[in-house]
Amino acid sequence: MEDIKIQGFDFALINEYFVELERQGPGSPEATVRALGFIDNLATESKIADLGCGTGGQTMVLAQNTKASITALDLFPGSIEKLNASAGKLGLQDRVKGIVGSMDALPFENEEFDLIWSEGAIANIGFEKGLNHWKSFLKKGGFLAVTYESWFTEERPAEIEKFWLDAVPEMDTIGHNVSIMQKAGFLPVGVFTLPETCWTDTYFTPQKSAQETFLKKHAGNKTVEAFIAYMRHEAELYSQYKQYYGYVFYIGKKL
Ligand SMILES: C[S@@+](CC[C@H](N)C(=O)[O-])C[C@H]1O[C@@H](n2cnc3c(N)ncnc32)[C@H](O)[C@@H]1O
Repeated sequence: MEDIKIQGFDFALINEYFVELERQGPGSPEATVRALGFIDNLATESKIADLGCGTGGQTMVLAQNTKASITALDLFPGSIEKLNASAGKLGLQDRVKGIVGSMDALPFENEEFDLIWSEGAIANIGFEKGLNHWKSFLKKGGFLAVTYESWFTEERPAEIEKFWLDAVPEMDTIGHNVSIMQKAGFLPVGVFTLPETCWTDTYFTPQKSAQETFLKKHAGNKTVEAFIAYMRHEAELYSQYKQYYGYVFYIGKKL
């Protein structure tokens, strides 16, 4: 795991920073609940997988709004520890289990799940590859709900295009992503863009104080300074170019 780099930064460093935050990507309880509204196959015996769950912000919302059992998977052990502790505090430990694993080699049975969920994480495997790999773990008629970075317009300024294509080389328009979903064998049942508050209120704002703390903890560390500068740049670019891109929820039913 030490060798993995995202945008040139060590996976371990990124996670040490994000593990202190409730969410590791844009999103909100309201958006999670809205997406759940498109899914109509869940019962007490249903099984949900939450892939790239982080510390479990959305996992707890899923648990509180369904009766299903949830397996939440992330590559970073620190996040899984936190997730399992939160499940215990909320009395959800019988239905929510966090496990360490990789989304590109899932330790599950074929057609095990009624619903596969993933917020802000599918870019780590690739949208098309993720849909195709994950599909085999879903029952026929099961649902998939993912958020993914998407372009809102056909054209955009070079500065923002470069920033995001460096981070997510396959990033594309909503129309293109829906067609990928269809080609992968899903009926698209819901698509909506996350509101700006999912970036500002739940993602960028909580990072401000976390950044100060992190810089103090690693005083003099140039890599940490560069990482925090990168995170601040991401927030600045968002406020400048938010009309061109955002996270989109894609919800599909396995045919
Ligand atoms: C942007 S965060 C989103 C976390 C959470 N779903 C949220 O919305 O707050 C992406 C997550 O994907 C995880 N991740 C990255 N590569 C992974 C992989 N190959 N397998 C499983 N998890 C991975 C990271 O550790 C991180 O927790």
